[in-house]
Amino acid sequence: MLIKVKRGWEMRESEATPESVFHDRRDVLKAMGLGTILAAGAGSLPFGQAFAATAPETDPSAGLYPAKKNDKYTLDRPMTDEKFSTTYNNFYEYGEDKGISDAAQKLKIRPWTIEIDGMVEKPMTMGIDDLLKKVQLEERLYRHRCVEAWSMAVPWSGFPLKDLVALAKPTSGAKYLQMTTFKDPSMAPGQKMFWYPWPYIEGLTMEEATNDLAFIATGMYGHSMPKQNGAPLRLATPWKYGFKSIKSIVKFSFTDKRPVSYWEKLNASEYGFWANVNPEVPHPRWSQASERILGGGERKPTLPWNGYGEYVASMYDNLKSERLFA
Ligand code: MTE
Repeated sequence: MLIKVKRGWEMRESEATPESVFHDRRDVLKAMGLGTILAAGAGSLPFGQAFAATAPETDPSAGLYPAKKNDKYTLDRPMTDEKFSTTYNNFYEYGEDKGISDAAQKLKIRPWTIEIDGMVEKPMTMGIDDLLKKVQLEERLYRHRCVEAWSMAVPWSGFPLKDLVALAKPTSGAKYLQMTTFKDPSMAPGQKMFWYPWPYIEGLTMEEATNDLAFIATGMYGHSMPKQNGAPLRLATPWKYGFKSIKSIVKFSFTDKRPVSYWEKLNASEYGFWANVNPEVPHPRWSQASERILGGGERKPTLPWNGYGEYVASMYDNLKSERLFA
């Protein structure tokens, strides 16, 4: 049986590479007789579609925003306009292209139950609104660098992941934190694509999970999280490629086994466990040297660790033999 598994995000080549390189490659492909295949994949960006940024009024956490800004986290670039970061998304549960913001409104965010299990003193289950009562929300400005070589800069609201780890009280044997997205094809039609390994899973080492930068985002732009961006809670690990930032989490599991994430299961040679941003290590199919800034199409050189080396680089000093950057 032949199953067509999409490779990576099957991004358009034009999105991953500067336009001049894209056109050069197009010429080469034409010469090889592959021009028609390339043309079939081409299309326009979904920026023209409806702007569906705000979480619905049924969200009881709406009054918690805006949260107080934490000035420690600053940006080297203007913030991305909300109309771009909320209409150009990766959320495969709602489809394989970027224009899923309307489709994602089907996501039901209440009731929303979060399970904490595995190697912890006492496994627990709680509703998102109970969790929000146990943590202190703050706002942080973070860059976000997708492995596809586009980027944005957004004000997340949420709380440090290490606060959730403290709440969970992992036992000394726990080495990793595995996070899992909901699985319910009736509200996420993308999960009917049987060739993907649902549910979406991601993982961090305990050291990464308790690093100051690792953040659970529950809102953005001073309000609760839009559904298309991963309501009601998602991860933000800005020194890693964006696929690590798992959306709409329902489970935090502490374990001594390294989690095999969704994209790693699909294609381990292209999407590994560590996935730290490094402009000098190209993706097997495109360069990571620069990034297209969402909104205007401007390109900027990509920074090692996405500019967050002072916070995170030392965690990897003894891991030089690992494939840290893919
Ligand atoms: N989480 C889930 N559950 N499903 C996804 O498809 N896509 C990832 C990540 N988290 C994804 C996910 C990828 S590839 C990126 S770049 C970011 O979410 C995109 O986040 P954004 O849509 O808020 O920009």
